[in-house]
Amino acid sequence: MIRIEGLRKQFAGSARPVVDGLDLDIQEGELCVLIGSSGCGKTTTLRMINRMIEADAGRIEVSGRDVRRQDPVELRRHIGYVIQQVGLFPHQRIADNIATVPRLLGWKPARVQERIDELLTLVGLEPAQYRNRYPRELSGGQRQRVGVARALAADPPVMLMDEPFGAIDPINRVNLQDEFLNILRKLKKTIVLVTHDIDEALKMGDRIAILHEGKVLQSATPGALLNSPANEFVASFLGGGRALKRLALLRAQDVCAPGPAPAGSPVIAAGGSAGTALSMLLESGGDALSVRDAAGGDVGHITIQTLKANLTRTDSNERA
Ligand SMILES: Nc1ncnc2c1ncn2[C@@H]1O[C@H](COP(=O)(O)OP(=O)(O)O)[C@@H](O)[C@H]1O
Ligand SMILES: [Mg+2]
Repeated sequence: MIRIEGLRKQFAGSARPVVDGLDLDIQEGELCVLIGSSGCGKTTTLRMINRMIEADAGRIEVSGRDVRRQDPVELRRHIGYVIQQVGLFPHQRIADNIATVPRLLGWKPARVQERIDELLTLVGLEPAQYRNRYPRELSGGQRQRVGVARALAADPPVMLMDEPFGAIDPINRVNLQDEFLNILRKLKKTIVLVTHDIDEALKMGDRIAILHEGKVLQSATPGALLNSPANEFVASFLGGGRALKRLALLRAQDVCAPGPAPAGSPVIAAGGSAGTALSMLLESGGDALSVRDAAGGDVGHITIQTLKANLTRTDSNERA
């Protein structure tokens, strides 16, 4: 879906290229996280995809087409773009902000109005209450929702998101991550999301590309990264507690052993996280948890040994 080969960019006046032979393949419908320390070229890479910055060398294909062969304005209509400080037009009402691209595309007013309400609902803002407000009348989190609604307006197959949660306080950030994940999964967009927060990357990414000195050091699923970091730098970037982070990616139903737990064991939902299972085992002091489906049916059981066995299975936490 997005194929980047040998991408290179050096800004005038700087001693070294910021992007220096970057290769990356992103599949259709995948959420790929670009992560790396500040100044490593994440934003520059993102902006070369929609040609807000022109590459010096290399090739970027989106949906099989070389971006350099497309008119940049036309290209950007098919690529939603969300940035940290939202970039809403302050003197325009929320509805008009969202309607920007549909109006550029010449949609009929009735269709534009319908789309505005549909998108506000999608991002959890009651249309009647919010469509006529101005950006300053919204909280940071609400503005970010509008930013996403605006980027989605013309239903682009690709979304670029540059630290979309960076300006949101930690509690709202977690909620917004969960909600966006739900929305974006339903819409099956191909997404490139930039962050410098490894927990956000592990939570949101189908794939994580770790950038360093203008190159991709490793690009893999969260599970594969945690299981086998390519080198010391990647390992240090992933931080401590890799085993716990891997457990957090797994669901109880993925790790449980067949057969019921002893009667009276604490119960965990099949979709609950294996990390939660570990906490429950430690807190209850018991030997096992009973894993149940939504109807209360027995799915299996979990012990400390089952969790340990899962952590040593190399393919265990690839996401479906
Ligand atoms: N337009 C520009 N002109 C000159 N230098 C730039 C420009 N944009 C970014 N840079 C520099 O390129 C480096 C990478 O920037 P950026 O891609 O924004 O990093 P990141 O998003 O990973 O923090 C930084 O050192 C930054 O100062
Ligand atoms: Mg940046």
